Amino acid sequence: MSNRLPDTVRRMRGMARYALLRLSGDDRTHYTRDYRRLVQSLIAQYPLDEAMSRAVGGLYAEMGQLQTQVLIDAGLADGDRLLDLGCGSGRLANTLKDRVAVEYLGLDIIPELLAYARTRAPPSYRFVLNTKLTLPVTDERFDMACAFSVFTHLQHEETFLYLSELARVIRPGGRLVFSFLEFRAPEHWLVFRNAVHAVSESRRVHLDMFIERSVIDLWCSQLGFEREQFVGPGDAGVGGSLGQSVAILRRT
Ligand SMILES: C[S@@+](CC[C@H](N)C(=O)[O-])C[C@H]1O[C@@H](n2cnc3c(N)ncnc32)[C@H](O)[C@@H]1O
Repeated sequence: MSNRLPDTVRRMRGMARYALLRLSGDDRTHYTRDYRRLVQSLIAQYPLDEAMSRAVGGLYAEMGQLQTQVLIDAGLADGDRLLDLGCGSGRLANTLKDRVAVEYLGLDIIPELLAYARTRAPPSYRFVLNTKLTLPVTDERFDMACAFSVFTHLQHEETFLYLSELARVIRPGGRLVFSFLEFRAPEHWLVFRNAVHAVSESRRVHLDMFIERSVIDLWCSQLGFEREQFVGPGDAGVGGSLGQSVAILRRT
């Protein structure tokens, strides 16, 4: 319906909602500011489904299927409790619901993405706004947690804080699965070159942070995780086709 409105009206409506969000929300962090700006500008430019897909990197159905398979391969099973950190517009939840019967909690920093995700998932799935680097859940609550394309947008210190929280909320023996960018992968090098170009023109949309495998191993030893597997682009298994590398960690 809103797609039929003239461009100027749509843009003004987007700006008004953005102003309201700024007044009501926590805009102190770079990630909240960056993602709000991105999501608002996509909503102003595209029909809702397309905006919500673009906001999380596109290929909504295909990526959801790949992410679901990565989690199943990492051991996700019926009855498990899953935390989806940075769940976005529900790309994973939308596919997961048809494959595994889990108790699901999705956390994200952007209300519009969470609102859309709710429309793509069963009522039993919970979606909660959380803009802090702490997790609003009790200790050892989850069998598995995942963060797809989230630590790629955070500084290392912020990721470390989240990882220490994830170590708290995943039960011993549970798994953490997350995707990351690394310099050793030629496919990721292009992301870096594009980011360099964007910075040189002062038009970077958000941080594209790389994490080296040695750093992840060091963090594991500090935080009580054991690294089970890294899957890079082109490696066997579905994780190799995600566009980012995947780390599968076990809570010790
Ligand atoms: C590229 S999208 C990926 C979304 C989703 N994981 C997926 O793969 O479809 C990155 C997501 O991370 C969220 N995000 C950014 N900073 C965050 C933070 N500090 N905590 C939680 N989520 C964050 C964004 O709002 C966005 O939904």
